[in-house]
Amino acid sequence: MSISIKERIISRLQAAKGDPISGQALAEELEISRTMVWKYLKGLGEEGYEIEAIKKKGYILKQMPDTLASERISLHLETKELGKNIIYYPVCDSTQTIATNKAREGVAHGTLVVSEEQTAGRGRLDRSWESSAGKGIWMSLILRPNISPQFAAQFTLVAAVAIARAIEDTTTCVPSIKWPNDLLINGKKVTGILTELQSDMDRVQAIIIGMGINVNQTSESFEGPLESIATSLKLETGEHVDRALLAAKVLFYLEKYSDMYITLGFEPIKLIWESYNCTIGNRIRATTLRDTIEGLAIGITNDGALQLQLDNGEIKGIYSADIDLLKI
Ligand code: BTN
Repeated sequence: MSISIKERIISRLQAAKGDPISGQALAEELEISRTMVWKYLKGLGEEGYEIEAIKKKGYILKQMPDTLASERISLHLETKELGKNIIYYPVCDSTQTIATNKAREGVAHGTLVVSEEQTAGRGRLDRSWESSAGKGIWMSLILRPNISPQFAAQFTLVAAVAIARAIEDTTTCVPSIKWPNDLLINGKKVTGILTELQSDMDRVQAIIIGMGINVNQTSESFEGPLESIATSLKLETGEHVDRALLAAKVLFYLEKYSDMYITLGFEPIKLIWESYNCTIGNRIRATTLRDTIEGLAIGITNDGALQLQLDNGEIKGIYSADIDLLKI
């Protein structure tokens, strides 16, 4: 997908780092009229870009709006394929539901559905996901890897390490991963991942990775039952985080680690996952659809299952469960 004139104007003004760029220069570079340049700049102003006009010198980009609009993410994007098609909503029911439908309609590998706010955000195990406006990153990525369905579950761990790495790059926090893919900071959840599959018997059609990252929420956002279990990057660091930059970094690492998984297998991903993990080595309670079991988490297998050693010594592989870390 080619970059738009709007994106090129933003990128040009940003590259000037506070030096004025004349309307004439922009018109020549973009091969449009000065009137068109002026119209685009007016439109950007209406979208929240603060652009100062300095007489006889040109335009300076003072501030960009705090949104996840596609041109804000694209500006930071360093991927080959992921996020080249971004579908943006100021508000929607659930990016996951929309991405699921778009995947069935055949949208391209790497398409991203992102929203400022979700009115019916979905979590794992049919829970709801709190997705208030303008503070978090609520996005669903459609991947179409050429793999058989038995290798799809590992993508959920690929996504967890990609987000952990992106957060580590963008902030002063190093999150830990609670199996399979909850990201925690100081024991509270900062990110949840919901991975869903569309598949034939022998080939994956699409993997839809839904990511909810708590970024700039303040404590008022987590009142009630969420107070003791949820946190945001801003609450942990005291710093406002550029959501568009973080979203672009997540896509960068997701591309890097999914390419790594497809070419080298799960082993290198498992090593990175283990470096962030806070589950292995702990006594845990696993609540599955059928029962609740306790034991020592001793590792993960090459298909991403958690190995739990029960008190009678028996080792069980767990593929899907809610995990509580128990204090010994
Ligand atoms: C979890 O339960 O931990 C998973 C939460 C996943 C939430 C994200 S937000 C973006 C995407 N859209 C949804 O409705 N859910 C996922």
